[in-house]
Amino acid sequence: MARLTIEHVSKTFATSRAVDDFSLDVEDGELVCLLGPSGSGKSTLLRMIGGFEQPTGGSIRIDGQDVTTLPPERRPTGMVFQSHALWTHMNVFDNIAFGLKLRRLGRAEIRQRVEASLELVGLADYGSRQTYQLSGGQQQRVALARSLVLEPKILLLDEPFASLDQHLRERLREEVRDIQQRVGITTLFVTHGQDEALALADRIVVMKDGRAEQTAPPDLVYREPQTEFVAGFIGSMNFIRSEIRNGLFQHGDFALPVTASDGPATLAIRPEAFSLSPSQRGDAATVLRAIDFGTHLMVDLQLFDGTRLKAMTEPGSAWTKGSRAAIRAKAYTVYRDNRVLQASAATAADPVPTRDHAHA
Ligand SMILES: Nc1ncnc2c1ncn2[C@@H]1O[C@H](COP(=O)(O)OP(=O)(O)OP(=O)(O)O)[C@@H](O)[C@H]1O
Ligand SMILES: [Mg+2]
Repeated sequence: MARLTIEHVSKTFATSRAVDDFSLDVEDGELVCLLGPSGSGKSTLLRMIGGFEQPTGGSIRIDGQDVTTLPPERRPTGMVFQSHALWTHMNVFDNIAFGLKLRRLGRAEIRQRVEASLELVGLADYGSRQTYQLSGGQQQRVALARSLVLEPKILLLDEPFASLDQHLRERLREEVRDIQQRVGITTLFVTHGQDEALALADRIVVMKDGRAEQTAPPDLVYREPQTEFVAGFIGSMNFIRSEIRNGLFQHGDFALPVTASDGPATLAIRPEAFSLSPSQRGDAATVLRAIDFGTHLMVDLQLFDGTRLKAMTEPGSAWTKGSRAAIRAKAYTVYRDNRVLQASAATAADPVPTRDHAHA
């Protein structure tokens, strides 16, 4: 069992509050991704869990044991950093064996455990290689093996593949997911790639300004973003900024009945949640261009006030440049002050009337 409990953790540096009253429970064997823009506090949080940084406030517990003030080597955590920090004067075997030697294990056991961990990361025959004889991806695998060989209860990965090309990064993250599930190790994975988080995580924590904006499984973060920031950060999203008046969100010819109170509001709609129909109205959306991706057609639209939208429709549907489209939203979320005012069910079948349809 390895359960990580972070309670009200803050970290203030001289001029900035890097982590701000952050709480999170990570279950045994769970893989949680910390996702957020640069400077949102992801590394600082991870470093505090690993013991490389001391919190200004709050507590960190692992299986109930308070580790908040313990040095890294006395914590049951293993950390892999973005830039491979292998020892260049040692070969691969010795890099991985180092921590086991510190623990004064016998030679036979060290050999067996190093070989098992090399096997685990797919580098079975690489023990005698020098680190400069490895590719970037192989170096990161060695770094991972070096952490895993110590059998930590909690694995902390800080953008371990960020310096690698896209293709390799995708492959390695699949491997990490594989290893993580085989070993069943509780894992925190920092990334600022949303694809990475969506592909890997049991749960995602979306961070901003040192705080958790939303903590939820990937599909929920995608379908029900709790803040406007999360809505814009995960996946492709369209925003229409306007006002609610008398129960109607209104923007040009686009009108949507809502239950939220009157006032300024932002409507968020996924490209795939639009449906388009031809319109003759002068204030309907104008098609700027349409790109056929084979599986779907992506239509770029512009509203009367210049707002740009992307709508995904069936392949083969004919939307030519300059034609006009009435827009409907099959699913949407309404935000005010970065908070959800109202969300439609993603499966909502109700047609959302525009004036076009209301007048029809
Ligand atoms: N040692 C430090 N001294 C002062 N400020 C720091 C220190 N480390 C981090 N910070 C600040 O804390 C904030 C959070 O930094 P952090 O490295 O945790 O962000 P991050 O989310 O990991 O960003 P990135 O995606 O760029 O790695 C930033 O504003 C950063 O400048
Ligand atoms: Mg970082």
